[in-house]
Amino acid sequence: MNPVLHELLRTGATATPSGGTVPLQGNISADEVALLLDVLGEIQPAASLEVGLAYGVSALAICSALTTPGARHIVIDPEQNAKPLWDGLGLFNLRRAGFERLISFYELPSYRALPALEAQGQRVDFAFIDGWHTFDAALLDFLYIDKMLPVGGLVVFDDADWPSIRRVLRFIVTNLPYRVHKTLPPGAAQPSSQRRVYEGGLRAAGAVLRGASRLPGLEKPIARAFGGELLGVDRAYGLAGACIALRKVGDDRRSYDHFVEF
Ligand SMILES: C[S@@+](CC[C@H](N)C(=O)[O-])C[C@H]1O[C@@H](n2cnc3c(N)ncnc32)[C@H](O)[C@@H]1O
Repeated sequence: MNPVLHELLRTGATATPSGGTVPLQGNISADEVALLLDVLGEIQPAASLEVGLAYGVSALAICSALTTPGARHIVIDPEQNAKPLWDGLGLFNLRRAGFERLISFYELPSYRALPALEAQGQRVDFAFIDGWHTFDAALLDFLYIDKMLPVGGLVVFDDADWPSIRRVLRFIVTNLPYRVHKTLPPGAAQPSSQRRVYEGGLRAAGAVLRGASRLPGLEKPIARAFGGELLGVDRAYGLAGACIALRKVGDDRRSYDHFVEF
């Protein structure tokens, strides 16, 4: 593993240029680093992109896995030089790891940087989405990344168990030519006891609703009224865990009015 990435994961802190240390915040875990290294090893991208740099843990992982000669990594984060967070420390870590030459950095919100990159004809084989976590922002990140991603490319979502991000993923797998490629191993993120009670209730309610939706004329109204969580969409499509990699399996050939309940 890259020594700077190893140091960050081992100590849970980042060095600063003045010789101090600052605790890490918002970073991906060692498990998620392993997932990124795994899928990047499979596709060996010539170009990759991530939304959300922070202290640079995911960026260090991605750069350390870029083995294709001339490969580049695009990083987008409007707050990288803000104080007290993130105070330039993500870029500092990329520099001291020797990855500066691989990076194109955009200090812009992703809703500004991504359309500009797409308009320039930028293509990427791999993308990691870990920026602003609202449903609309993450969906917009995905929309532009999808336009830059070839069939066979991968897009990974962090915090895939957040309600906002899970709904983005549900929309994608039910409406677009994407399949779940890999997730964090089940059980890696142990659900809390409250979450287990909640999921038990959902399963019971879902079983009743699935039975009812088999009655003539009820399938669509029930899907509309209760949505994917109760109807077990996640289970059916393999959406599980806190980090999910999707593979693009085809071109978008939907008609202009296509819509599948999710
Ligand atoms: C959860 S942190 C990213 C953690 C990082 N991937 C890691 O593993 O260390 C989220 C990041 O998204 C950035 N961010 C916030 N709003 C954004 C936006 N509109 N576009 C892109 N990035 C944004 C924040 O500044 C922050 O650095």
